[in-house]
Amino acid sequence: MASTALPPTSLNPYQQTHEEKEQQYPVHYRGVKDLVDNGSRTLPQIYVKPPDERLVINSDQQQIPLIDLSELEGAGRSATVEAIGRACRDWGFFLVKNHGVSESTMENEMRVGREFFHLPTEEKMRYFSTDHKSRMRYATSFNVKEDKTLNWRDFLRYSCKPLEEMVPLWPDKPTDFRKENAEYIRKIGDLASILLSAISESLGLPSEYINEVYGDYSQYMAYNFYPACPNPEQTLGLPGHSDPGGLTLLMQDDVGGLQVLHEDHWVVVRPVPNTLVINLGDQLQILSNDIYKSVEHRAVVNSNRERISVATAYGPSMSTLIAPAPQLVNSSSPAVYKGCVYGDFLDSLESGSLHKKSVLDCLKLDMS
Ligand code: OGA
Ligand code: NI
Repeated sequence: MASTALPPTSLNPYQQTHEEKEQQYPVHYRGVKDLVDNGSRTLPQIYVKPPDERLVINSDQQQIPLIDLSELEGAGRSATVEAIGRACRDWGFFLVKNHGVSESTMENEMRVGREFFHLPTEEKMRYFSTDHKSRMRYATSFNVKEDKTLNWRDFLRYSCKPLEEMVPLWPDKPTDFRKENAEYIRKIGDLASILLSAISESLGLPSEYINEVYGDYSQYMAYNFYPACPNPEQTLGLPGHSDPGGLTLLMQDDVGGLQVLHEDHWVVVRPVPNTLVINLGDQLQILSNDIYKSVEHRAVVNSNRERISVATAYGPSMSTLIAPAPQLVNSSSPAVYKGCVYGDFLDSLESGSLHKKSVLDCLKLDMS
């Protein structure tokens, strides 16, 4: 009788046994935490970055703006919107405080993430996949199959939508991972939508313009885990990149390592308790017709302490066509980009590596 078992080589990570994955993947696919736990005291060559990628041109003089959101829904709305607009124009990055996500919700979100990365590698490998389209996966580097040099970073990335469908696919260890994530995701999603209203207004668009364009928006979470590193100056946690989506809302712990490219200097984004780091992705650069930029940033690592961050990528639905807002286009400011369906944009980006601005450049209209 024919067997009904799935072939053992099935690429569905949920259907592969641990042994199958072991046989299939090189050892460095298991992540940098695994490498360190197995006693590696030097940096393997594959993590060494070319010198131009790890250039240190830090500026200690400047800091990204910190915006207090406590007055956003009150009498101080127009001043707050103006401050947000200025930060978007000048930096593409800002910190927010009094943002409505409670201290305990933030702490719990960090704690369950940290506990996940401290699980045995075998447990994390249950979720391992090289498929960048996977809606739930644990992996390392950026695109471990394609990257020429690897990044000192393990990550867990998963979709939040539809929530009821996604929750059962999330890790079941630590036991409160799903509960805490469901809570954080709701709160951070509300904040994203509030910020997008303010950003719309700051561009002179109707308050709900961007939220309406995004429609049935997408929301992805990514925990980034950066273990202490033997030779941190030779590698990077994440190389310079811009975020492809709409808005990124990042919570980082107290270690620090995020840097933003500003006027040709890498400016350190210092950790400030109870703040979130907000930055604009490529889809807002396109929609704003280059009034706002999706700014390059990177994560450096250090030899003393592991670091964790959790990024929320809030953007259009995959089938949404993103183009410059017609209200921002006129004869003196012609459209800089042609429109592109967000899902197609991601496909072009993710089939390559984390290239700076390459997909965005392809969408540029000929201005000559
Ligand atoms: C990202 C990112 C920076 C950090 O996840 O896209 O840029 O500090 N993270 O972890
Ligand atoms: Ni990023």
